[in-house]
Amino acid sequence: MKILLVTLIGLVDYTYQSGWSYDYQTQWPGLCRGGQLQSPINIMTRDAIFDKHEAHIRGPLVMRGYGDVKVTAINNGHTLRWKVKPDTEAPVLSGGPLRGNYTFLQFHLHWLSEHAIDGMKYPMEIHMVHVKTGVPVDEALKRPDGLAVIGVMCQIYSNEESQFALEQIMPAVPDLASRSEEETDPKNIDLRRLLSPNPQSYYTYHGSLTTPDCQESVTWIVMDKPLIIADTQYQVFSKVDVGGRDNYRNLQQVNRVVYRSVASCSTILMPSFFGTIISLISCLSSSLTAGVNKGYCYIVNIKRRLLGSTVKKCAKLA
Ligand SMILES: *[C@@H]1O[C@H](CO)[C@@H](O)[C@H](O)[C@H]1NC(C)=O
Ligand SMILES: [Zn+2]
Repeated sequence: MKILLVTLIGLVDYTYQSGWSYDYQTQWPGLCRGGQLQSPINIMTRDAIFDKHEAHIRGPLVMRGYGDVKVTAINNGHTLRWKVKPDTEAPVLSGGPLRGNYTFLQFHLHWLSEHAIDGMKYPMEIHMVHVKTGVPVDEALKRPDGLAVIGVMCQIYSNEESQFALEQIMPAVPDLASRSEEETDPKNIDLRRLLSPNPQSYYTYHGSLTTPDCQESVTWIVMDKPLIIADTQYQVFSKVDVGGRDNYRNLQQVNRVVYRSVASCSTILMPSFFGTIISLISCLSSSLTAGVNKGYCYIVNIKRRLLGSTVKKCAKLA
């Protein structure tokens, strides 16, 4: 009885402190349960509309001022978040599927990834959140075009260059091991290092925030070429307390159109790139499918291996 009581108090206390939890997603409020345009989703390459007539994606994505941004970091109990220091110059995103300018607010991390591509989850996903320029955030959350979020998948690979992408943010991570009200000291970083190797190659669709209250105000731009990060860096995140084991929302129903940029097919013109064959197949045929369960299983195994737990067999799935 005593143990049960302690557990219950612990639970109430925890829920009270952070408001919501990834462990109880079915209890999230409002649109999180009733919405029809929720995120994240599994993006199937073969179902994505290749927008070669530029009906929806008009011209390249334009990123201004991403090279030098003053940010402060915090562990808010759900994620590690780096946000632009108020009254400093913020980057601006426009072009592609966007109509007008979107001002960069913050980026944060999810491990594992929230989106899946062809059923494949990645070890980590970076979200760069932008709000329609000149619109206050609480207003933007009420508009279908209020926010634009870039999702960047991270793949673990160990070579000389794999430290590069996260190098600027890693020194702050140990100080962010647990939830705190306190922000780190401001630091200037180059956000371009956190973008995909080819930022013109992406999927885009209309969806929602992936945290309560799950407002359906987001133009999602999910990069299809992953950023490479080092396994030694990824292990540091396993020591960060985000209130539970993971900090990703479950996949939501797709039931809508996903577009893909022209550049997401253009790697077929670069024969040396290792993704050539895969890109070629996925642009020209409809036969490339990977079982959600199988891809997911492989990625969870990467995580299990890094954290020293037992690896499960994936071959039988899907
Ligand atoms: C977006 O910002 C650019 C540069 O400041 C400006 O020239 C352009 O008019 C803006 N576009 C809109 C739709 O406000
Ligand atoms: Zn996010």
